[in-house]
Amino acid sequence: MSADEDMDVPEVLAKIPRRRWPRHIAVIMDGNGRWAGLRGQPRVMGHRQGAEAVQRIVEECARLQVSCLTLYAFSNENWQRPADEVEALMALYEDYLRQERPRLLAQQIRFRNIGRRSDLPQGVLREIEESERVSAEMKGMTLSLAVNYGGRQEIVDAAREVARQAAAGRLSPESIDEHVLDDMMYTKGLPDVDLIIRTAGEMRISNFLLWQSWYAELHVTQVLWPDFSASDLHLAIADYAGRRRRFGGLDKEGGPHEA
Ligand code: FPP
Repeated sequence: MSADEDMDVPEVLAKIPRRRWPRHIAVIMDGNGRWAGLRGQPRVMGHRQGAEAVQRIVEECARLQVSCLTLYAFSNENWQRPADEVEALMALYEDYLRQERPRLLAQQIRFRNIGRRSDLPQGVLREIEESERVSAEMKGMTLSLAVNYGGRQEIVDAAREVARQAAAGRLSPESIDEHVLDDMMYTKGLPDVDLIIRTAGEMRISNFLLWQSWYAELHVTQVLWPDFSASDLHLAIADYAGRRRRFGGLDKEGGPHEA
């Protein structure tokens, strides 16, 4: 991919050849609760401000022609939070999907949800399906929202599908390889994750994209998600571009995608 001539590339990225940019960025959006706590506000205010950051970062990634952006919005484990917080988050996703749809389309963004759809409230499910339907033919960035997502659960679902196909005689044990499994993940068709950004300082993966991020580079920032800005995104991309990706091999000349 070559950078669009008239795209206003931020200074920190201007000298980095496009082949060194990440194709697939995934974000663990953490720190909403802390952001609210620091201001003496209820946690839900942090999530609302977090939704503003989502809009900002989606827009900037699309503008920079990043191929894929995947956002961790709600994990399988997040159901353990107090019922009123879960309810507020679900309402926020529903509103976000409905309100942002025209903007996503205007930016040529293809939307998809990753995660188990069972257990999601009807309203959220309806908006997910509608956003997927109307954006299916879009040719710009793919935005994946992980709602009711768990990396282990995704692998379990893939294993179930393998077993179903094997039982039906459509798959033999010998033909199962990484490509077969890759096609059974929720992220079917997307490239592996190149860069995981985690806000708010914790150094863990938290059950996010376990299969897809096998050789992803990690960028952890202390910035709380509601404060995460376009400049923070640029710094993360520049940090990634400076890494030497060896994929278990030895150093080679060239960019991250040449190894
Ligand atoms: C983690 O912060 C964040 C979440 C569990 C939810 C992510 C949700 C958003 C960013 C809001 C809106 C998203 C969309 C797609 C509209 P935390 O509550 O765990 O923060 P803490 O660790 O500081 O308590």
